[in-house]
Amino acid sequence: MPVINYSTSNKKIEVPENSNILRMSLRYDGELPNRCGGGTCGTCVCKIEDGYKNLDKVKHAERKKLGGEYLDMGYRLGCQTFVNGDVTISWDEEITRQVKKRKITMPKTTIKS
Ligand code: FES
Repeated sequence: MPVINYSTSNKKIEVPENSNILRMSLRYDGELPNRCGGGTCGTCVCKIEDGYKNLDKVKHAERKKLGGEYLDMGYRLGCQTFVNGDVTISWDEEITRQVKKRKITMPKTTIKS
């Protein structure tokens, strides 16, 4: 089974295939910040430190909220992202603050999938 390493809170959680990063955090106390659960607030933004290839594809809501700017740096929205293998994530108060106040746009750059 895949393991999600919530490195900021120092929690490693074994999860079923195709599990949602935020849902597993809420269920098993991974401590990923969150608010809306629907891809609009940006509170659950997290950096994929390892295992990006084990994620499902970037969602429309993520393109709008994160833009190419953050997607290209390896950030995803935990509430929109599902894992199919081991993944390590982290989050940062300052980045979360920036993403939360970021205006919704459509990115012009290439997006990782
Ligand atoms: S919790 Fe609001 S965007 Fe994920």
